[in-house]
Amino acid sequence: MTPLAWLCVCVALIAGCSSHDPEAGATGSACPATSTLSYDSFGEAFMDRYCVRCHSSTLTGSERNGAPSDHNFDTLDGLHATEPEHIDEQAAAGPNNVNTAMPPDGPRPSEAERLELGEWVACGMP
Ligand code: HEC
Repeated sequence: MTPLAWLCVCVALIAGCSSHDPEAGATGSACPATSTLSYDSFGEAFMDRYCVRCHSSTLTGSERNGAPSDHNFDTLDGLHATEPEHIDEQAAAGPNNVNTAMPPDGPRPSEAERLELGEWVACGMP
């Protein structure tokens, strides 16, 4: 290989080594017309149980355990201010991927709960 070709290989390898799990990706979840998931029936309890001990507007500094300051899931407004595909790609499950990057430690949702999260996000987090 020429030096230029080697350079291309190196760049491709480095680009492939992002901090995110390479198996993770969009779940491909759909929103069935019959979906009954809402913030009241699902989202609030899910977030309280698995996410807000780091992702809450009431936490600052080291209390957040490194969670980005613009990702707050203690209110529906906070959830809507977050790119839905980020939530999908970090924590939800669907036909294309089962994403388990979040939460980084326990307690963790079951796969059935992650499937519900994927559906709820696909429905626009009503
Ligand atoms: C123990 C603390 C903790 C918990 C609990 C937690 N997270 Fe996180 N989260 C983090 C940290 C730290 C980061 C930043 C590092 C990273 O991106 O990997 C982060 C980043 C994120 C991001 C942004 C990633 C990106 O690149 O855009 C999303 C979305 C997210 N978390 C969703 C969730 C969801 C949904 C839950 C609940 C199922 C959750 N997190 C639970 C600590 C946590």
